Amino acid sequence: MRVLGIETSCDETGVALYAGDGGLLAHAVYSQIALHADYGGVVPELASRDHVRKLAPMVRQLLDEAGLGAGDVHGVAYTAGPGLAGALLVGAAFGRSLAWGWGVPALGVHHMEGHLLAPLLEDEAPGFPFVALLVSGGHTQLVEVAGVGRYRLLGESIDDAAGEAFDKTAKLLGLGYPGGPALAALAEQGDPERFRFPRPMTDRPGLDFSFSGLKTYALTTWQQGCEAGQAPEALKADIARAFEDAVVDTLLIKCRRALDQTGSRTLVLAGGVSANRRLRAAVDAMMAERGGRAHYPRPELCTDNGAMIAYAGWQRLRAGQHEGPGFEIHPRWPMTALAPV
Ligand code: KG4
Ligand code: ZN
Repeated sequence: MRVLGIETSCDETGVALYAGDGGLLAHAVYSQIALHADYGGVVPELASRDHVRKLAPMVRQLLDEAGLGAGDVHGVAYTAGPGLAGALLVGAAFGRSLAWGWGVPALGVHHMEGHLLAPLLEDEAPGFPFVALLVSGGHTQLVEVAGVGRYRLLGESIDDAAGEAFDKTAKLLGLGYPGGPALAALAEQGDPERFRFPRPMTDRPGLDFSFSGLKTYALTTWQQGCEAGQAPEALKADIARAFEDAVVDTLLIKCRRALDQTGSRTLVLAGGVSANRRLRAAVDAMMAERGGRAHYPRPELCTDNGAMIAYAGWQRLRAGQHEGPGFEIHPRWPMTALAPV
């Protein structure tokens, strides 16, 4: 079964074809970063309009690359939520219409389920059950995963998501948008000994996170350093390093707790922040120490993409799940509400 996947939940247009045993046949991502950069963040209306411009030519090119025609696609999966309502509507209307025109089933996919299942696209895929740490721009969640659609939420952020904290801290350090990768690159030059930022909510039991205080901590450290006349470039890099270490350490402490609590030896990381090198290195070291293993998507599939939507859609469509002739989007959508496969 060949499934076309369409991702338009935020500022990336992603399309892909996934074919079960044939694997990922082709995928392409167009990032709108340049479009939103001047505004310092995503402008929803501009995002929707750009998805409208890009989707049809991208799908056409995808089919050409895979050497396939319309009749060779057996199902269409599109992101139905969570995300920006206008952006979701573009992908949903386009995907649903294509499926209708082609006479094949369509299905709205949960964006975070896409992220969560992305590591299963890799050669050494994790087996169920496992614990997943989802760290993206909009979500930070620890989930116990018994199978596709069988999710138990163990903990989540009560305020900013990890990626959001990276982006906001990068912005106040003047690193532009989206700041996560830029902040991580700057942290490489930082001195890990100069500052120590707090590890929020680690001194009490539980698996929830809170990252919003870290950006305030970074801002105060920056202001005090500037007032004291400290060299700004080194100050910035040292703050970036202290911030990154605090986020990584906090995520690690909670992952360790989640693994202890569930008795699992497999940890899956997904979402944009799982591309972070220091986080991956720290998680690998922890899992080696515990005699377990960590799995991640390849870096290009950590951030938003169509491949993860094609794959999650394929898992559900091949099990017979699909929707009627209408469609719905869910800008807010708890993953635990999904049907098991
Ligand atoms: O999963 P994603 O592409 O979009 C959402 O679903 O939100 O995640 C994007 C987030 C952004 O906040 C971005 O700054 C962050 O992932 N990110 C990183 C890195 N690469 C992307 N954060 C830290 N280090 C990175 N290397
Ligand atoms: Zn995402």
